[in-house]
Amino acid sequence: MTKTIAFHLQKGGVGKTTISGTLACQSALSGIPTLLVDLDPQGNASSWFLSKTPKWELSDVVQGKCYPSDAIVAVEQVPNLYILPTFGIGGTLKLYSETKLADEPFVIQDLIHEFKGKFQHVILDLSPGLGRLERSALIASDEVITPMTPESFSLDGLEIFIDELNRLKKNFRSAVKHEKVVINSYDDRIRQHRDIYDAASRGNFRIYQIPVDPVFRKSQDKNVAPQLFKENGKGLKEKTKLTFEDMESEIWR
Ligand SMILES: Nc1ncnc2c1ncn2[C@@H]1O[C@H](COP(=O)(O)OP(=O)(O)O)[C@@H](O)[C@H]1O
Ligand SMILES: [Mg+2]
Repeated sequence: MTKTIAFHLQKGGVGKTTISGTLACQSALSGIPTLLVDLDPQGNASSWFLSKTPKWELSDVVQGKCYPSDAIVAVEQVPNLYILPTFGIGGTLKLYSETKLADEPFVIQDLIHEFKGKFQHVILDLSPGLGRLERSALIASDEVITPMTPESFSLDGLEIFIDELNRLKKNFRSAVKHEKVVINSYDDRIRQHRDIYDAASRGNFRIYQIPVDPVFRKSQDKNVAPQLFKENGKGLKEKTKLTFEDMESEIWR
């Protein structure tokens, strides 16, 4: 059965792309056919994993210009990882979401139905905000996980997101789960970080912590999976690896 996970908080720069991309690699490297759908008009996930501009993109699929299978690209460096890309330049996904998507809130859900049987794991990388495109992706997901940074603006953002998600679930009769939070760039030596952790814990979330890890940015520059990146024999921090192993084993079960 296909399971679809979205990473979302309406705030930018909290690690949505980094975490969704790394989790997609983790799943693919463990041998499971995994699809990463780039729903961000800026196309960050696509430029991370693809060094060439592909022929078709997500906005072509949702507008019926090509079949989903035409647009899916195998990521050369990561076996079992596939991406449904978005080109940052040109802005066609943004234009589509601002104009035509209003009449088609279930377009992403319908798209994911087409992948049933082809991919066991589907991960959606969303752009900041809570517009039509993000909403249609959220109602297409089995579960949404919130990445946040350890600062009070993120905590406010989490509260707003919980509220908006409840409204969305009611309006669209969606059963999307929201039980997990990832605190990114977390350092437990810092008091403020521990306070944010405590505050988020009060929401009864399973909370994962990812430290600051320079390998993320380096692997994004070099178009590789963070798990496969090595410099002077060193790769991801142990704590980072452990967190993704935990996430991998708990998210898909
Ligand atoms: N744990 C981390 N350690 C170091 N850099 C990180 C970490 N998480 C994210 N980054 C970097 O922060 C920037 C923003 O992350 P990104 O995943 O693009 O956020 P979002 O998708 O939420 O906008 C990127 O340059 C990324 O490489
Ligand atoms: Mg992003």
